[in-house]
Amino acid sequence: MNSHPDTVIKGGRIIDASGEHSADVVISEGHIVAVGPNLDAKRVIDAAGCIVSPGLVDLHAHLRQPGKEETETIASGARAAALGGYTAVLAMPNTTPAIDCAAVVREVLDLGRESVCDVHTSGAITVGRSGEQLAPMAEMAALGVRIFTDDGTGVQDDRLMRRAMEYASGLGVTLAQHCEVNSLSEGTCMHEGEWSARLGLPGQPSESEELMVMRDIALARMTGAKIHFQPMSTSGSAALIAAAKAKGMTITAEAAPHHFTLTDACCENYDATFKVHPPLRTQADVDAIKAALAVGSLDAIATDHAPHAAEDKELPFDQAPPGMLGLEYALALAFTELVDGGAMTEAEVLGAMSSKPAAIAGMQNHGQILVPGVSANLCVIDPTHRWRIDATGGASLSRNVPYVGREVRGKVRHTFLFGESVVHDGEVQR
Ligand code: DOR
Repeated sequence: MNSHPDTVIKGGRIIDASGEHSADVVISEGHIVAVGPNLDAKRVIDAAGCIVSPGLVDLHAHLRQPGKEETETIASGARAAALGGYTAVLAMPNTTPAIDCAAVVREVLDLGRESVCDVHTSGAITVGRSGEQLAPMAEMAALGVRIFTDDGTGVQDDRLMRRAMEYASGLGVTLAQHCEVNSLSEGTCMHEGEWSARLGLPGQPSESEELMVMRDIALARMTGAKIHFQPMSTSGSAALIAAAKAKGMTITAEAAPHHFTLTDACCENYDATFKVHPPLRTQADVDAIKAALAVGSLDAIATDHAPHAAEDKELPFDQAPPGMLGLEYALALAFTELVDGGAMTEAEVLGAMSSKPAAIAGMQNHGQILVPGVSANLCVIDPTHRWRIDATGGASLSRNVPYVGREVRGKVRHTFLFGESVVHDGEVQR
C-alpha cells in the first residue's frame, strides 16, 4: 500500500475516546508518529475548523459481492465508505452464495485487500442462511471472522439459536441477530400502524422484532453468549435492551440512520426507496431510538447500507426489495438529527460510529485514541459544511437514497487508511 510519508494534519480539533483537544497529527509509514502543537512534515493537510477523528467503523454493510455486482462491489462499497469517513466496514453475509464457509470468506477478504477501506466480513450462522443447520463457524473464525449473523433474516428456531450461542461461546465470537419473527412478518412490507392501514399495505407489528429481542436476551442469559442486536427500530426493543443492560448483561445493539431520521409516513407515495427491514416506524419510535443512543443503551450507529438496482426499487412497494444506502450519509445525518436535534454531542456521535463499533467487532486497528504508535486510520470532518443530499454524485453503484433533497451538516474532507490518503478534499483517490 502506498503511504504518503510525513504528512501533518494541522490545526484540527481531535475528538476520540479520550476526549477533545486541539493538536496537529503527524502520519508516517502507516502510523501516527506525533501529536502536539506546531508540528511539521513534508505534506500539510489544513484542518483548521475541522474535527480529526478515528476513522468510522460500520458494523453493517451489504457489499453484494459475490453475486450482485451490478448493484455494488466490494471496491465500490469501499469507496462509498471512505467518502463517508469509514476506515473499516463489516460485510454482511447475504450474498450469492452466502458467506457461510471458509472459501467465500477468503474470497471477500481477498477482494477487500485491494480496496480503499479495511473490509472485514461477518459469516453466516446457518448454512445458506436458511436457518436449518449451523454453518462451519470454526473454519470462518480461524480466518478472523468475529461476528456471525444470518442478516436479512433472523434465526427462527429457538433450539438452533441456543446451539449457535453455545458454539459461538466456545469459539469466543459474537452472534449478531436481525430480529424479525417470520410468522408475524411474512408477507408484510412496512410497519403495521396508521400508515399501513391508510395505504392498504400489509404491516409488520413492532412485536415481530421485540419477540426475537426478548428470546435472544433469554438465550444469551442461559448460554453466556456474546450477542449483538442489529438495527433496533422500536421503542419496545430499546426498552428491552436497556432493561437487560441494567441487569448487568453485556449485550450490545446498533441503530441505523434511517431509524432515527425517517418515519413510516415516508411511505405515503408508495415509493419503495423507503422500504427497508426492519421497517421505518413511528415518530415515537424515532424519538425512543434517539434517546437510547443518547444514554448508550444502543451502543453503535451502523448504516445497514443496502444497495439495490433502480429497476428493482421501481417495482410496486410490496414487491420491491427492502433496503437503502447509508455509507455516504450516515455521519451527516447523525450530526444533523442527533447533535443539532439536541440528543447527543459530536463526541458521543463519533464514539458511536468509531470506538464503540470497533470494540464490538474486535477491530483493534480502528476507533483508537489518536496517539503516537497507533495505525493512521482517521478522518477529517468539516462540521460546518452544510449540503443538500442528492443521489447523483455517490460512489455506490446504486442510487436508492431516501434522503434526496434533505439539508444536512457535516462533510468528510479527508480519510486516511493505514496512512494512505484515500479521500482528499472530498474526492476518493483510487
Ligand atoms: O432492508 C434490508 N435490506 N434489510 C435487510 O435485513 C437486508 C437488506 C438487504 O440486503 O437488502
